Amino acid sequence: MKSTIGEHLKTIAEALELAPIEEVLTWGMETYGANISLACSLGPEDLVLIHHIHTLNLPIKAFFLDTDLHFPETYELKEKIEEHYGFKLDVYNAHISLEEQNKIYGPSLFTNNPDHCCQIRKVEPLEHALHRLSAWMTGIRREQSPTRANTPIIQWDSRFNLIKINPLVNWTNEDIWSYIHSKSIPYNSLHDKNYPSIGCAPCTNPVSLGENSRSGRWQGFNKTECGLHQGENSYE
Ligand code: ADX
Ligand code: SF4
Repeated sequence: MKSTIGEHLKTIAEALELAPIEEVLTWGMETYGANISLACSLGPEDLVLIHHIHTLNLPIKAFFLDTDLHFPETYELKEKIEEHYGFKLDVYNAHISLEEQNKIYGPSLFTNNPDHCCQIRKVEPLEHALHRLSAWMTGIRREQSPTRANTPIIQWDSRFNLIKINPLVNWTNEDIWSYIHSKSIPYNSLHDKNYPSIGCAPCTNPVSLGENSRSGRWQGFNKTECGLHQGENSYE
């Protein structure tokens, strides 16, 4: 991307930073049309985005990266959300089944080499999901972790080479949950059992009172991201 395009993106980001979420979503749809999709892990942020998209009657698509290792509660929620909003998530799986992975790498790749496991079961499927798209949308928030603290509302994703829109960067955890409760949006029952952030079952633990919401992810490893959100926070 040439720096003039980077400057243009920065100007849009500055304007959208102060705009209501409805405007951000409508702008994304009008700008990228059929070439934009929401990455939906079925976490609370993604549910807030789906609810807004549905309420605004926007035809934005959404995809779910199915690692085959999600909690049963997550798969149940997927069914519930699809029924509630009357749509189907596009599902992307790893190129090898869990059985094949276990045969090749042993049954505990997620404990022996979680980066490799995430690469096979999350990052490569994401590359397929993003193939041919011009933009993707995520539920990441600045408050979630120091690595996300400077995330722009719209950025150039240099890792996957497309535009990335993060409409909820400014929302607090409280904002998310009051919205979910006020609209009676179905959510993952594990959140009521001390699981604030939910990923794959082998890599997600409940947290204690006062702990960071993402501290239950990859406990015991020097790992805070699965590789979906590791690009530079830049406009070009
Ligand atoms: S993760 O990278 O550590 O897994 P996190 O769970 O905080 O990320 O989710 C941040 C955002 O990444 C979600 O709001 C969603 O946009 C995207 N995301 C994470 N996991 C998935 C998934 N399994 N399928 C689709 N999108 C996902
Ligand atoms: Fe594998 Fe854990 Fe990454 Fe899921 S979060 S893909 S189980 S290492």
